[in-house]
Amino acid sequence: MAGRVLITGCSSGFGLEATVALARRGWVVFASMRDLGRRDRLEDALYVARINHGVELVELDITDTGSVERAVASVLEKAGGRLDALVNNAGISAGGTFEDMDADEFRRILETNLFGVLNVTRAVLPAMREHRRGRIVNVTSSGAFFGSPGLSAYAASKWAVEGWAESLAMEVTPFGIHVICVEPGAYRTEIWNSSPRTIPADSAYAEAAGSVERFVEERLIPNARDPREVGEMIAKALEARQPRFRYPVGPDAVVQHVARGKVPNRMVRYGMRRLIGLDPPGH
Ligand SMILES: NC(=O)c1ccc[n+]([C@@H]2O[C@H](COP(=O)([O-])OP(=O)(O)OC[C@H]3O[C@@H](n4cnc5c(N)ncnc54)[C@H](OP(=O)(O)O)[C@@H]3O)[C@@H](O)[C@H]2O)c1
Repeated sequence: MAGRVLITGCSSGFGLEATVALARRGWVVFASMRDLGRRDRLEDALYVARINHGVELVELDITDTGSVERAVASVLEKAGGRLDALVNNAGISAGGTFEDMDADEFRRILETNLFGVLNVTRAVLPAMREHRRGRIVNVTSSGAFFGSPGLSAYAASKWAVEGWAESLAMEVTPFGIHVICVEPGAYRTEIWNSSPRTIPADSAYAEAAGSVERFVEERLIPNARDPREVGEMIAKALEARQPRFRYPVGPDAVVQHVARGKVPNRMVRYGMRRLIGLDPPGH
């Protein structure tokens, strides 16, 4: 059931892995990235996987509507007007407590993770509707439903995409279009290196922010998993006969998925504080 798919953010991480997983299955992949100068890693991965056809590189910055329109127009032209799937994968993160993060930085996260996703989806929907067929996979996060300290902008952006996607799914089902959320836990990708973390020296939250920082560096990143799992899950969601709406990926994501709505928020917060080490000794 291979078809034509446009993926955003293919210079590294899940976008790269999804490109390899889908090309291997015979999909024609329009692998997009905002800077084609960063194509080396993808090209190396394709070489190692011995994939030498079926992948077209496309320049696409999801925050720039002109770039989105140009990219989608060229993809549709090459695909004969028919696109079977879109993977909204590109995303960014930034750490810092809400008060320490300035408003522009907060907005930058939403411009990419929420409005960027809307920009690309808006551009592909007319063609999918016309052909009464399509799948739109949004890479959200298991963290969308479990806010954590120092990640409010990221959690807000992913939670927003989940809410939007639930609504969109109901609007477009009559046109044969499935909307899906792939929700990974912690995976070893560039996002951990590229995300700025704001902890001003005079922060009122310095101690807690330091605990979060230690938790991320000492526990989260060393235990992060192989991103190929997410590439495979994206492929699975695109090829499932009856796709589900949500696909948690990784044991942490599955636990969070199952616990969602069942464990009282008070207990979630207690567990999170203990895990991160936010409670002073003796509490
Ligand atoms: N890694 C995890 O643990 C994890 C967990 C849950 C969810 N996620 C989500 O998974 C998705 C992929 O992230 P990743 O972990 O694979 O990180 P990654 O390796 O940093 O990949 C992110 C990709 O997004 C691209 N990108 C960023 N801004 C863009 C823009 N404006 N236009 C087009 N592309 C843009 C990056 O391009 P450049 O190379 O040009 O920067 C890069 O190709 C993100 O939505 C992220 O939030 C990640």
